Amino acid sequence: MKEIFQPNPAFAQHARIGSMEAYHSLMNKAKDDYEGFWAEYADEKIEWLSPYNKVLDESNAPFYQWFTDGKLNVSNQCIDRHLADKGDKTAILFEGDRGDVEKITYRDLSQRVNQFANLLKNKFGIKKGDRVVLYMPMIPEAAYAMLACARIGAIHSIVFGGFSSEALRDRIEDATAKLIITADGAYRKGKPYLLKPVVDEALQNPVESVEAVLVVKRNNEEIHWEEGRDHDYNALIGDESDECAFEPMDSEDPLFLLYTSGSTGKPKGVQHSTAGYILWAQMTMEWVFDVQGDDVFWCTADIGWITGHTYIVYGPLAAGTTTVMFEGVPTYPDAGRAWKMVEEHKISQFYTAPTAIRVLHKMGEDEPAKYDLSSLKVLGTVGEPIDPPAWIWYHEAVGGGKCAIVDTWWQTETGGHMISPLPGATPIKPACATYPLPGIMAEIIDKDGNPKEVGETGLLCITKPWPSMIRTIWGDPQRYEKSYFGDAVKDGKPVYFSGDGANMDEEGYITITGRMDDVINVSGHRMGTAEIEAVVNEDTYVAEVAVVGRPHDIKGESIFIYIVLKGDPEKDMKKHINSLLAEYIGNIAKADDIVVVPGLPKTRSGKIMRRILRSIAKGEAITQDTSTLEDPAVVAQIEEAVKNA
Ligand code: WTA
Repeated sequence: MKEIFQPNPAFAQHARIGSMEAYHSLMNKAKDDYEGFWAEYADEKIEWLSPYNKVLDESNAPFYQWFTDGKLNVSNQCIDRHLADKGDKTAILFEGDRGDVEKITYRDLSQRVNQFANLLKNKFGIKKGDRVVLYMPMIPEAAYAMLACARIGAIHSIVFGGFSSEALRDRIEDATAKLIITADGAYRKGKPYLLKPVVDEALQNPVESVEAVLVVKRNNEEIHWEEGRDHDYNALIGDESDECAFEPMDSEDPLFLLYTSGSTGKPKGVQHSTAGYILWAQMTMEWVFDVQGDDVFWCTADIGWITGHTYIVYGPLAAGTTTVMFEGVPTYPDAGRAWKMVEEHKISQFYTAPTAIRVLHKMGEDEPAKYDLSSLKVLGTVGEPIDPPAWIWYHEAVGGGKCAIVDTWWQTETGGHMISPLPGATPIKPACATYPLPGIMAEIIDKDGNPKEVGETGLLCITKPWPSMIRTIWGDPQRYEKSYFGDAVKDGKPVYFSGDGANMDEEGYITITGRMDDVINVSGHRMGTAEIEAVVNEDTYVAEVAVVGRPHDIKGESIFIYIVLKGDPEKDMKKHINSLLAEYIGNIAKADDIVVVPGLPKTRSGKIMRRILRSIAKGEAITQDTSTLEDPAVVAQIEEAVKNA
């Protein structure tokens, strides 16, 4: 049996959920009266402009609606309602790559977001429902832009700054965005880098819907300026009033889109709602990180991912806490940077990805000891499974053995945490997501809804709709239905399948085993193998391609590509394919291994047996039955090619 770490009693004493009895009682309440449970929190947490009529409308399943007809505004929820008692409190604590620090109070935030909202309305004619794409570095203006959109009811779609111009263009087109907000660039590892050229390239052939590009100046590097299209934020913003009434939004109005990879080629625009999303963002801040009083919360994600949306901007601000936003990387100028920041800003909750923990462990095992980390109360991880050695180092060296580690399992689609320890309640087993949060009906079942036995891996499903769930895929409701409600049925009803596998031990602890579909997880970033294959397939020298994940010490998984050639390319195919991937998706899609093979293992019906390819990539002996293959001899040939690569 795994070692168990009990909650710190001093912490538990003040925690919102301070014991397993309290956890079970909340969970039982949710089971007994599901709608009543959620209504209680919706009433307590949200500042309603007008009340909702129905808690949960299931009449058009799986297009669930929550808190129907209620009116609210997320920027009010995150800013205005705090002004009376928290106007002088730091809302965003920004630290630049080069160590520059800016403390933005709730009052400052209010002024800047109002000005930004006015600029969007007055200068660019942005209205409720318009889509605005953000291609931004980690600077406060990114948060202002998000909240300004929320204030006037525009739908933002943030594209991670590591995506290429092609990927950016696809997302702009899919959302038919009217405005792009970007920056000249920012700083990384002490040097300026540029973002604006990527936007220029994406719009080289104009996209019809795009009327303007708004550029924030961060590093003042020289950039191309398209007269008539490009607008200088810094020059314009001062003219706008810092008062802008917020738009009353319907509970179900979309708050934002965020594109993510699935198991087919095209990324999906995950659409989130207003009320359900902000409710759960705030509740999970309060339960899972238990932010209180003057706590300073730091999530190291990028705002281009869901973690950055929910736990840098919306969750912390809705909870009225101080959120840290960091432009740089935790290994610059050395592997003590993050710990130095913890000491200087007295950070109380620190939330990062296992990849970062592995890097910091490897590069600076003894660094944490050089700093005063006594302000830390809760540590968190997200995005991929964490291995026990990294967990133990995080717990001992960083947390001094006194901080709970919340291993939070969730997804872009879930909006907020689903399965996670509660720091004041849950006895924790290392590298285990433990229990579903109160109100979240997570179950491990087979496709017919039968529960799996202890220790057996099954489909990780959420069997009841929850407030912060994905509402649809932008422009493709059928794909939403098929992607999430097409694999598992319980009591005759399709239920949400996450794409992940999981198992449960005799005490009900849930361990996530990883994706069951063709999505791989590189440094906590989701990559659809089909998306990569679609790019590689376009190359003139590629006859066939198959992409799999391979376990990687630091990144969790790395990308491994098998290609079958046509003709003789007479060039270094690894370099060539990786430059294509960088161009069409971004550097994050580059493969560690690209191996030319004579053929792929296929069944007689032509289906590629990926399991075999995964085993070969791992260097495992093939134990699967290969007799159903069209050409069983190909397996040995592939093994040989991988060995010689
Ligand atoms: C994986 C990130 C193990 C999982 C918030 C999921 C995890 C995907 C964990 C979602 C965890 C996330 N343990 N695996 N604690 N958290 N995952 O959409 O495979 O970028 O389906 O959301 O990351 O990735 P996404």
